[in-house]
Amino acid sequence: MTKITFHLPGQERVVAGEAGKTIMQVAVQAGIPGIVGECGGDMSCATCHVYCADQTGFKPASADEQDLLELVDDLRDSSRLSCQMKLTETIAEVSVEVPE
Ligand code: FES
Repeated sequence: MTKITFHLPGQERVVAGEAGKTIMQVAVQAGIPGIVGECGGDMSCATCHVYCADQTGFKPASADEQDLLELVDDLRDSSRLSCQMKLTETIAEVSVEVPE
């Protein structure tokens, strides 16, 4: 299990995520506001945008992911599509910020 800390405007939520799931899937299941996952992880909606400063253990963003990220508001160097961030058994914890 990976301990995922979601930093939301004015609050923090900590959720345990199973290896093999994406951060988007865990967030939607836990009802984290601001992560919608409208396309179900098909990389066509960007409603799963998060900021993640330390992405150790995750695969880097693909060219397709980077293309879609260009369309989000408030793009930062740490921007990721959380549907493309798959948890593995070696990732003990991760911290993500949910855009407003
Ligand atoms: S859920 Fe649609 S791009 Fe991530």
